[in-house]
Amino acid sequence: MKFYPLTLLTIIIVLFSLVYIFFKRKFAYWSDRGVKYLEPRIPLGNLPFGRYEHLKTIFGNIYALKDKSPFIGGYIFTNPVVVATDLDFVQDILVRDFQNFHERGVFNNEKDEPLSAHLFSLDGQRWKSLRMKLSPTFTSGKMKFMFPTMVDVAEKFCEALTEVLHKESIHDVKDLLARFTTDVIGTCAFGIECNSLKDPDNDFRKYGRLTFELRLGIIGRGIVMQFPEIAKFLHMKIFREDVTEFFMRIVRETVDYRRKNNVKRNDFMNLLIELMDNVTTDNENNVKLDKLTIEQVTAQAFLFFAAGFETSSTAMTFSLYEMALNPHIQQKARKEVNDVLNKHDGNLTYEAAKEMIYIDQVINESLRKYPPVVTLRRNAHDDYKVKNSNVVIQKGQTVVIPVYGIHHDSEYYPNPEKFDPDRFASDQIRNRHPMAFLPFGDGPRNCIGLRFGRMQARIGLIMLLKNFNFKVCSKTPIPMEFSKTIPTLSPANGLHLKIERI
Ligand code: HEM
Ligand SMILES: *[C@@H]1O[C@H](CO)[C@@H](O)[C@H](O)[C@H]1NC(C)=O
Ligand SMILES: *[C@@H]1O[C@H](CO)[C@@H](O)[C@H](O)[C@H]1NC(C)=O
Ligand SMILES: *[C@@H]1O[C@H](CO)[C@@H](O)[C@H](O)[C@H]1NC(C)=O
Repeated sequence: MKFYPLTLLTIIIVLFSLVYIFFKRKFAYWSDRGVKYLEPRIPLGNLPFGRYEHLKTIFGNIYALKDKSPFIGGYIFTNPVVVATDLDFVQDILVRDFQNFHERGVFNNEKDEPLSAHLFSLDGQRWKSLRMKLSPTFTSGKMKFMFPTMVDVAEKFCEALTEVLHKESIHDVKDLLARFTTDVIGTCAFGIECNSLKDPDNDFRKYGRLTFELRLGIIGRGIVMQFPEIAKFLHMKIFREDVTEFFMRIVRETVDYRRKNNVKRNDFMNLLIELMDNVTTDNENNVKLDKLTIEQVTAQAFLFFAAGFETSSTAMTFSLYEMALNPHIQQKARKEVNDVLNKHDGNLTYEAAKEMIYIDQVINESLRKYPPVVTLRRNAHDDYKVKNSNVVIQKGQTVVIPVYGIHHDSEYYPNPEKFDPDRFASDQIRNRHPMAFLPFGDGPRNCIGLRFGRMQARIGLIMLLKNFNFKVCSKTPIPMEFSKTIPTLSPANGLHLKIERI
């Protein structure tokens, strides 16, 4: 038996060679097609091995290879992904050829985790019919109606902040603003006054924070992203158990309460309850759409909550950060607020807010420099020949739109690290490609809550600028450091500013 060790060694060598050849084959996908790509590494492709890296960095590295071609190739594990670098190509994917790119391919596992089957993660007919049902919730008419409710929340927020400032003038504005948006969405989506500023440990705030502490590490996230079928087979779940339980309970209680007491309010929950009770009709095709179940309603309410509070609060946080770093911008914005409010007898009305153009420019520039959602994605429904190129995007393949990279490209935004709201003066917008600014995505699958998110950020900033002054202090992170574990763009360790009552 003295050949035994040699045999074992042979087997090991053969196995290793096979694995190596497997990866080499897989990673030859882009070079075979003559497409420029970022060199992948075994076994994770362009994902980092053994450490966290933010998506903005992972896709930023690929975007950096941009040339004249429509896209650069990348690999997530062994899956080839298309990273769009040309804005006309981006427009093809998001808008012109949407019928082939309506799928996002985000993992959902309705059976094991009902909360995961929400608008963001559904695809195909289920997405289409749900989007149609939910769209009436977000019209500008509905937003106008919610406006006074939001202003109320903002006023309470400013009162509570004034009180807190008596004790301490340095605060983490990210945390403060997350409490504000939690209160807004709690009121508008669930009809529940959370008062997060007075009571920072209330359940909404607590589970809101935990929502983004996913159960999965970087590998788990990769599997969920690229191999949803395997993830489903393994019964993988995304959200923590206690988060799921909390939202299931709170929605059930709210629905029961409203039904029993016949409560009708002008909020998201009301609309969701109607979708549970009524059959809606797709007027375009004249077909009846199914009623929603309580689980489906919970998933949507949960999504509104999750999508609404973190994105909007980080947008406002970065606006305040840049205004603290650039006091002349802060002064200009405050002057606009005061001038317009004086014109309206001091009332913050829907019309008054609309007149504050500079505030909007500040928010846009902040969403440009710090897009809360750093990449968009679409999966090809069928093989798709890329225009002006011989390459075919295969059925099921992922197209990533690297929003952060585009927003920081000096071809569209000279001196991209400079915070300059004048980039959003109307003549400058006109001269830019429409796809150069994508904080809410674009096309039929863009952010459904865009108006709500913008309105909330506007009201928050207006009220804050009117009442408070923001300055940098020794605890302010300069330069900004981003969290690598939170999937949206977010400061690593909070964002402290010195706040003074005016
Ligand atoms: C500043 C705030 C916000 C930002 C930056 C933002 C950003 C985005 C982005 C980039 C997408 C993907 C779009 C695409 O793939 O083209 C998205 C989708 C979505 N957002 Fe927002 N969002 C914000 C606020 C909100 C709010 C307040 C809500 C709800 C109340 C909301 C609900 C949604 C939903 C439901 C989707 C999925 C739409 C679909 O797949 O049909 N978002 N958001
Ligand atoms: C749903 O039905 C209720 C009465 O059951 C009605 O008041 C409401 O307007 C209906 N909603 C929709 C969206 O059709
Ligand atoms: C401002 O609000 C007060 C009280 O709500 C109201 O009487 C007044 O007409 C409003 N002014 C304007 C210009 O809207
Ligand atoms: C900000 O960007 C949005 C597009 O998301 C646009 O509709 C709006 O007009 C812009 N506002 C300003 C002042 O640039």
